[in-house]
Amino acid sequence: MSVNQEKIKELVALREKAKLGGGQKRIDSQHAKGKLTARERIDLLLDEGSFEEFDMFVTHRCTNFGIEKESYYGDGVVTGYGTIDGRLVYVFSQDFTVFGGSLSETFAAKICKVMDMAMKNGAPVIGINDSGGARIQEAVNALSGYTEIFQRNIMASGVIPQISAIFGPCAGGAVYSPALTDFILMNKGTSYMFVTGPKVVKTVTGEEVTQEQLGGASMHSTKSGVAHFVSETEEEGMAMIRKLLSYLPQNNLEDAPLAVCTDDIDRIEDALNEIIPDNPNKPYDVLDVIHAIVDNREFLESQRTFAPNIVTGFARFNGQSVGIIANQPKYYAGVLDINASRKAARFVRFCDAFNIPIVTLVDVPGFLPGTAQEYGGIITHGAKLLFAYGEATVPKVTVILRKAYGGAYCVMSSKHLRGDLNYAWPTAEIAVMGAQGAVEVLMAKEAKAIGDDAERAKFLAEKEEEYRTKFANPYVAAKYGYIDDVIEPRNTRFRIIRALQSLVTKKVVNPPKKHSNIPL
Ligand code: HXC
Repeated sequence: MSVNQEKIKELVALREKAKLGGGQKRIDSQHAKGKLTARERIDLLLDEGSFEEFDMFVTHRCTNFGIEKESYYGDGVVTGYGTIDGRLVYVFSQDFTVFGGSLSETFAAKICKVMDMAMKNGAPVIGINDSGGARIQEAVNALSGYTEIFQRNIMASGVIPQISAIFGPCAGGAVYSPALTDFILMNKGTSYMFVTGPKVVKTVTGEEVTQEQLGGASMHSTKSGVAHFVSETEEEGMAMIRKLLSYLPQNNLEDAPLAVCTDDIDRIEDALNEIIPDNPNKPYDVLDVIHAIVDNREFLESQRTFAPNIVTGFARFNGQSVGIIANQPKYYAGVLDINASRKAARFVRFCDAFNIPIVTLVDVPGFLPGTAQEYGGIITHGAKLLFAYGEATVPKVTVILRKAYGGAYCVMSSKHLRGDLNYAWPTAEIAVMGAQGAVEVLMAKEAKAIGDDAERAKFLAEKEEEYRTKFANPYVAAKYGYIDDVIEPRNTRFRIIRALQSLVTKKVVNPPKKHSNIPL
């Protein structure tokens, strides 16, 4: 064997060793927990054969607590770049088989390297998390490593899409890197995120709680809103991330890729003419409206089970990627509350940061009243959504389907918040409040003066009817030009497509400033 051949053989052997991470026994244990390895995950995520790895031979430099006797090539994280549907992405995948995927100084430096490369080249970063947190032996060097990553997450925010997959533990300060990214996907049953684990919770508060209850995928996708997507399996999770990326541009200077539209642009949906129930208090499913109007009825919903009274997600119109925000009358009459406001505000800001036009479907009775909401700061949280819409400069197309009452009318991408094209269905009701509430306020004195109960009820019913006739329609707003046109529901798809086409060249620039001061 020549010297060259010897050296190549050595390289191949070293690579094979590095690929084993913490060794076959720990790989088997990872599989036994129902989890894939860091490399298997990358293989699932990226186009076949596209992965180019960095820093395979990096090892840690720590000498505390005997760790110097143990070291593994790669040091617990697999990093590099590849493609998804032919488009460049950077990726890091934490390897639980090496010191429980815990983060060391060198581990962090590897992640920082791919993040820096992603920023230089304007490509998304996908982080796959499965880690015991800071590598305890590395002390402050692990903390500094985390913070270097946080700083990069912050600088990359709004410049390149950042997506986090949680496929194992993610605890302590480690949760803040995913939290700083744009989207978090969690896998059911095998992932959890919390700032302090069940043991510390028990010591500090006396509360007994399991990992799943404290920070599992179900909790974060329903109660906290931390998780945007939930998968049943890691395979499904990776497919979801690939799908999500198909709606996103590579960076904030580009537009999302235009897909070939295989749907009929002029598709007329007769069912939409009948979808609004005669009784204004009866719900319907706004998802039926969304599916009826978007390309191929395809809609990728974000935070599906959190604040379901508002729907957020991605779809396409004539191949163009858009963000859809829709009040959902099926849940709490589509009311805006704290969680719905936070959810929609962040989504609007993501779309605006990445040049994704916003289509808003409005059917909202107002903001949710009550002490729980006021004590929780609905004023500040509601203002977030108002701010996000008002600040957004991407094309904004709005369709009022039914109710648009009070402050919620103003907030939901109204003309006054620089809505570009604002349409209403004939069933739209645009007013300060609903008929019953309005008449109770306006006619309080007159009603009180009527002694007979039946007479009073008759009087109020007449006044409500009068109010409805006057305001429960889109024509008052249309008269003032606040609504550009009243459209037949069945034509909504092509009216939105035309609107978006007309806005392709839209240019609006906000005044120069260091940054805004959105009510947080
Ligand atoms: C070093 C670690 C480690 C860590 C796990 N290991 N966590 N090594 N530092 N943080 C090692 C274990 O010693 C073990 O080594 C291997 O990884 C697998 O761990 P197990 O405990 O056997 O696995 P499992 O039973 O699945 O439990 C996983 C776990 C548990 C729940 C994550 O390991 C755990 O609680 N680890 C500590 C978590 C923690 O408190 N981290 C610090 C959080 S504070 P062997 O050799 O046996 O395979 C933090 C601050 C960040 O992260 C601040 C940022 C600003």
